[in-house]
Amino acid sequence: MIVLGIETSCDDTGVALIEEKRSRFEILSNVILSQAKLHRQYGGVYPSLAKREHQKNLPIAFKRALRDGNVQKFDLIGVTVGPGLEPCLWQGINFAVDLAKKTKKPIVPVNHIEAHILTSFIDKNFQDLISSSQRLFPAVCLVVSGGHTELILMKSVGRYKLLGRTRDDAAGECFDKTARILGLGYPGGPAIARLANSGESKPVRVKNIKLPRPMIYQKNYDFSFAGLKTAVLYDFRSRSEKERTEKKYIRAMCSEIQQAIIDVLIKKTIKAAGEFGARSIILAGGVASNQELRRQMREKIKSQMPGVGFFVPPKDLCNDNGVMIALTAFFHQEMATKDLQRIKADAKLKL
Ligand code: KG4
Ligand code: ZN
Repeated sequence: MIVLGIETSCDDTGVALIEEKRSRFEILSNVILSQAKLHRQYGGVYPSLAKREHQKNLPIAFKRALRDGNVQKFDLIGVTVGPGLEPCLWQGINFAVDLAKKTKKPIVPVNHIEAHILTSFIDKNFQDLISSSQRLFPAVCLVVSGGHTELILMKSVGRYKLLGRTRDDAAGECFDKTARILGLGYPGGPAIARLANSGESKPVRVKNIKLPRPMIYQKNYDFSFAGLKTAVLYDFRSRSEKERTEKKYIRAMCSEIQQAIIDVLIKKTIKAAGEFGARSIILAGGVASNQELRRQMREKIKSQMPGVGFFVPPKDLCNDNGVMIALTAFFHQEMATKDLQRIKADAKLKL
């Protein structure tokens, strides 16, 4: 079966084709037309601009996906219906509906958050996954992106319970906003990660940089990252012009920002996994491409929860893309519909 996936919930236009063969998934094509450069000047995503770009990019991305995959036909269409920026979601939906009419293929409406989670299964055998579900679930999923920071209890594919979420900024948003304070580009996550220390390098230290770990000891599974951003701003302003533009300061601050975010994310995830008797932990979303987060999470699970599985998508599939939408459509074939009027954008769609 060949599945087409369409993603336009934020600032990336993603169109991809995947094929399921003997219970394994093959990525036939994965086209992502990023608008990051365009939004850089605003330090975030500008919705009406993003909508216009999706409209322009969708036919280009679709043609390229067919050509790259050397494919003329597909069996199923998956499209993101939420959560996300409503005007952007509608662009993807309208495009998918037109295609469905032309090709007479059904559409599976896809939840963007579930798609991030399921991407961690892309390189697994689909049948093995079903037969080993007793050993995998319940799973605790940490979804961290520019728009989301959520801890979710996954009982099986399709059954989820929200344990907690950010009360203000998302983890990725915190990377983006603090990067902006430091004069680094958008998206901020990769920029901060590049400058921060990795586990192998000797830490760069600058006196008195110590950021808070918001809500780390609170009993709930909620997060808050707005205070972290404010703490970075105060520290930055308290330094002389000379000091705050020095590479040493920027690098030390990047390390501390990254570590503060990682500390909170890992602590709460491990705690939830313990409380809910998780058999595995899934890390997903754009921030999951952060090397240090992946490494430290893996080590913590190994040392504190031996026997608990750890799933994370390949780095190049952590950020928004069409593959994750196609994969989720495959998992939810039972939801395929030709009743196209029913496909509607829902900016606040829940799991
Ligand atoms: O999942 P995604 O592509 O889009 C949303 O659904 O939001 O996530 C984008 C977010 C951005 O905030 C970006 O700064 C962050 O993921 N990000 C990273 C890294 N790569 C992307 N954050 C930390 N470290 C990274 N290496
Ligand atoms: Zn996303």
